[in-house]
Amino acid sequence: MVTLRINGKAHIVNVPPDMPLLWALRDVIGLTGTKFGCGMALCGACTVHLDGQPIRSCVTPVSDAAGHKVVTLAGLGTPDKPHPLQTAYVEEQVPQCGYCINGWIMTAAAFLAEKKKPSEAEIKQALEGLKCRCGTHVSILKAVKRAATMMG
Ligand code: FES
Ligand code: FES
Repeated sequence: MVTLRINGKAHIVNVPPDMPLLWALRDVIGLTGTKFGCGMALCGACTVHLDGQPIRSCVTPVSDAAGHKVVTLAGLGTPDKPHPLQTAYVEEQVPQCGYCINGWIMTAAAFLAEKKKPSEAEIKQALEGLKCRCGTHVSILKAVKRAATMMG
């Protein structure tokens, strides 16, 4: 049994401690906004926040998350009170298939929480390595810049 604190709520899950956090989030708890992409810490689709830092949940065992604060895309904002990045994504009409959204937004959210008024170069560096197979990178950059302005 492992107790996970996710989006402000405690979940007691009966899983092996070495199970990837991603599996527990998606298959046991049902938080499917966190995506499986590569399973090898390469694409960022599975990103969640662990004590405010972005981590790749596909290679993080649940035992590493126990006792820590986990935030997923579902916990970042609500339909009534979306995170500025969620608002900016809608306003810039970013998504195509949408599969990559989790990785970009969770990574950018952790970055913007620490860095006010970032330059374009700093944003690009923070998001380095993330993938969008639909090629929406220009729109993503616009949305992150818009959110940065909203948060600035
Ligand atoms: S699924 Fe975790 S980094 Fe790709
Ligand atoms: S919108 Fe399809 S992978 Fe990014």
